[in-house]
Amino acid sequence: MRKKVTVVGAGNVGANCALRIAGKELADVVLVDIMEGVPQGKGLDIAQSGPVEGYDVNLVGANSYEQTANSDIVVITAGFPRKPGMSRDDLLMANYEIVKAATEQAVKYSPNSILILVTNPLDAMAWVAYKISGFSKNRVIGMAGVLDTARFRTFIGMELGVSVENITAMVLGGHGDDMVPLVRLTSVSGIPLSELLPKEKIDAMVLRARKGGAEIVSLLKTGSAYYAPSAATVEMVESILKDKKKVLPCAALLEGEYGINGLFFGVPCKLGAAGVEKIYEVGLQPDEKAMLDKSVGAVKELVDVLKAKTGAA
Ligand code: NAI
Ligand code: 2OP
Repeated sequence: MRKKVTVVGAGNVGANCALRIAGKELADVVLVDIMEGVPQGKGLDIAQSGPVEGYDVNLVGANSYEQTANSDIVVITAGFPRKPGMSRDDLLMANYEIVKAATEQAVKYSPNSILILVTNPLDAMAWVAYKISGFSKNRVIGMAGVLDTARFRTFIGMELGVSVENITAMVLGGHGDDMVPLVRLTSVSGIPLSELLPKEKIDAMVLRARKGGAEIVSLLKTGSAYYAPSAATVEMVESILKDKKKVLPCAALLEGEYGINGLFFGVPCKLGAAGVEKIYEVGLQPDEKAMLDKSVGAVKELVDVLKAKTGAA
């Protein structure tokens, strides 16, 4: 039987997720958005690329969830970007309401699905989806680390003039300015990065990766990145649907790993048919642990605001 993926939010990230899932023939796709006509129009448009590109998937758009029934995966990209005059907490609460509503519908129509969260602030929204869904922790996953790592690999490839395919890296932590690119574990075909570039150059690339999202926003001016975010999301979708068991940095619920409890946080995960099948604990040097602690502090602050404002435990 064909697999089925629902993508909630037919904006820039959501529509590109749908396009990539269709292009790889991973699953039939239902695109859901509150904007009348938009998911239907984009769905039809992507379906009409099939005869040219050579893919066969059913792609439909909808403003409600009936057609999403029995999806294998529900990707949640619905949400507001931060608008002028909006505080971080305002954005947090606005997207909380959206993710809560989307999660309730996902649970109702696809009780056996795996949820992949994309909406920002990512680590906090994954926590919301976990709490609202009541799903087991392996079935709620946040996308950020694959994107942040892809950005870091891109900058290294640009600096060294080598194929990005040869670059292995791992960015851990929350999806924000305090994320932790693990330079010690970054290599080019097995050659440690520290043997190829001076520290100042590496530090500059770490900083650029941390601010990778903001760099794109400052260039686009009207929105945030979506090509790499959708590619990163679909790598996770593919690993789950094909049970590939790729080890990817994802936001997963931690229960003691890395000394963190009850928060979603970016760590290396094995992604297979059951969702997060294993969390890998990498031994960290004291400076890396300090960076990770700073990053977890930023995530905890947001979740504490949510707990205070919603009464969630
Ligand atoms: P966008 O503005 O292009 O699309 C968002 C869509 O959500 C809009 O079409 C809107 O109508 C829809 N929407 C709003 N409320 C809804 C609801 N209740 N149900 C269904 N749809 C609803 O934004 P874009 O660029 O697609 O980004 C989406 C989200 O993903 C943002 O929160 C953004 O910050 C986040 N993001 C996260 C990344 C990550 O690494 N985790 C990377 C890139 C974006
Ligand atoms: C990004 O990193 C905005 O989270 C989004 O591009």
